[in-house]
Amino acid sequence: MSFQSVGLAAGSASNLAAALARTTHLYERVKTVIPPIEWPVFATDIDAILRLKRERNAILLAHNYQTPEIFHCVADIVGDSLVLAREAIRTDAAVIVLCGVHFMAETAKLLNPEKMVLIPDLEAGCSLAASITAADVRLLRESYPGVPVVAYVNTSAEVKAESDICCTSGNAGAVVESLGAPRVIMLPDEYLARNVAAETHVEIIAWRGHCEVHERFTVADIRALRAEHPGIRVLAHPECPPEVVAEADYVGSTQRMSDYVARLRPASVVLLTECSMSDNVSIQHPEVAFVRPCNLCPHMKRITLAKIRTTLETMRHEVTVDPAVASRARRAVERMLAVKPQ
Ligand code: 13P
Ligand code: SF4
Repeated sequence: MSFQSVGLAAGSASNLAAALARTTHLYERVKTVIPPIEWPVFATDIDAILRLKRERNAILLAHNYQTPEIFHCVADIVGDSLVLAREAIRTDAAVIVLCGVHFMAETAKLLNPEKMVLIPDLEAGCSLAASITAADVRLLRESYPGVPVVAYVNTSAEVKAESDICCTSGNAGAVVESLGAPRVIMLPDEYLARNVAAETHVEIIAWRGHCEVHERFTVADIRALRAEHPGIRVLAHPECPPEVVAEADYVGSTQRMSDYVARLRPASVVLLTECSMSDNVSIQHPEVAFVRPCNLCPHMKRITLAKIRTTLETMRHEVTVDPAVASRARRAVERMLAVKPQ
């Protein structure tokens, strides 16, 4: 491997050379998805982030949709929303930097009220979280008195505070069944709710929110893929429309998709989800052919190495939750974490 630092002043060139030398082993991890020409752009930020993490006693939690240079080179813990929530409780670090979207950082803060939780970009939102307010939940409760409310973690802390229990894509069915109720309200993802409804006898009342990334996959996409790649395994996220899920070979959270590939090692696979998933999982399984019609999440893509570095340098973009809201929202998250997986 050889990298060039053309046109840099002498000091910058030697800093870059040192950063490149210290990160060579990390480039080895991601070389199948990051061309050598791009690595010098990342190397100095990665080198600085690794140093700053030690200096600040900070831990980096990264969602499966983060880009490979974040996921494989600077993150301490990676996973789906459920893994990140569980791991947030276990850390001894003083500072948590959440490389994901705002509701994930809020969940980490709810579970760690005494720790500083930072997000590299406060604007990293989510179309599902934006689709419903606390007032909407109160109105739903008035319309369906006594019916328990299950809030997907892709919601604000205010919405969680109005709910009985949270769920993620990794435990939604188990959470719904744990309530022992004949009817539940599931919000805000209509498709997740309908996909869970297909697998339970519990009657589900759904809100009409959608994920702007997963709602775009279609049955026609899957049929075209199967025609072009005979034998391909099609894995779908449960935020996809129910007809897409019905046409897929497997449905699961991002972590479950990753586990499926690790366990069964199909010859070829497509992950109907955000684009970075395939990059990240393909690095771990070079023997599996990944076909990649994917959709980008613009919110997840707001998180970059440069912003992570700035966050650690300045300790800015702290995520806080109003204490009046936090105790009720925390109860909904903790109740979810107590549910045994199916
Ligand atoms: P997971 O919990 O499955 O990672 O999903 C989070 C998310 O935002 C998917 O779009
Ligand atoms: Fe929200 Fe969809 Fe992006 Fe996940 S992929 S953060 S659900 S907009």
